[in-house]
Amino acid sequence: MVSMKILGIESSCDETAVGIVEDGRRLLANAVASSMDIHIQYGGVVPEIAARSHIEAVIAVVEEALATAECTWDDIDGIAVTYGAGLSGSLLIGVLTARTLAITKSKPLYAINHVEGHVYANFLTTTELPGYTLPTEAPQFPMLALIVSGGHSQLVLFRDHFDYTLLGQTHDDAIGEAFDKVAKMIGLPYPGGPSVAKAAPNGNPDALQLPKARMPGKYDFSFSGVKTATLRAAQEMCGKDFTFPSKDLPGLLNASQRDDIAASFQRVAIETVVDKTILAYEEFSPASVVIGGGVAASQELRRQLAERLPIAPLYTDIKLCTDNGAMIATLGCFMMQKGQPVADPYSLGIEPNLSM
Ligand code: KG4
Ligand code: ZN
Repeated sequence: MVSMKILGIESSCDETAVGIVEDGRRLLANAVASSMDIHIQYGGVVPEIAARSHIEAVIAVVEEALATAECTWDDIDGIAVTYGAGLSGSLLIGVLTARTLAITKSKPLYAINHVEGHVYANFLTTTELPGYTLPTEAPQFPMLALIVSGGHSQLVLFRDHFDYTLLGQTHDDAIGEAFDKVAKMIGLPYPGGPSVAKAAPNGNPDALQLPKARMPGKYDFSFSGVKTATLRAAQEMCGKDFTFPSKDLPGLLNASQRDDIAASFQRVAIETVVDKTILAYEEFSPASVVIGGGVAASQELRRQLAERLPIAPLYTDIKLCTDNGAMIATLGCFMMQKGQPVADPYSLGIEPNLSM
């Protein structure tokens, strides 16, 4: 492969992130500024605040990434940017920044699907940056990918780069979103995934009998049923009926009840995605199974997959599981290498509802 360095920009939600990657496998920089501290006060991401924070941060984050990678613009061969899916105002800032840089620095521009980007974080195998634990080998095709985040729950079969089939996806909430909502319901802080994961080891995962949704599509998911069942169980624990408002529940639950709810919900939510991953593994016999997205940070997900899959599941450093620019840059490298079409820097638009 001709050596190349791509700068990737990610701004689809609350992280303003810029990564620089060489040849689709070497991580040179992964700079992130997050407006999460502000959103925590509201219990969820506020789109207008996220967009304004991107405007304030993006140039500094680009400069930080270049400095970390010890690169000037002369060293950068192309720019990749998330154009969907995500929040409109947030996506716009990243895309307009990338378009402007592509024009002023005369670089080819690559438009990246955020969810595909999550998968490609797993191709990074080397770095000199401190504090990263990367897989030693890149995934092999055919590759089964489970993408689980606050916005997505998808199971995708990749036969090769840019040749994939969406096997299934969620019909309602994304799994991370369900973690966030259950956490809020029982009074654990936002973001809910890490809070539930922290409480769960102290609770009994079999304390609640929670249902797994049966879906018409073999590989489709649903998380709204288990979320509602969790609410009903919590109301019952407090001796209240289904009319009792969820916002008043945290005040009535004691710590051990909270831990039991967290443990039971986590077990069933994770089992739901693992069941389908095992089913797809048996049908398609992939050479690799990778996980991506914020929920890929879940130790419970990693444990259940390792226990039930005949091959070791591949996942990367937590800093590359959550939203980041390096995953966007990595996919950009493969787009350039495989001669994928470039985007027009004068007209590239955003696609907030982009699917795979
Ligand atoms: O990929 P990401 O950073 O942003 C999106 O594209 O959505 O994922 C964030 C999501 C949040 O919903 C968060 O609660 C969830 O990932 N998450 C977890 C864990 N760590 C983060 N969910 C379950 N267990 C975890 N350990
Ligand atoms: Zn994401």
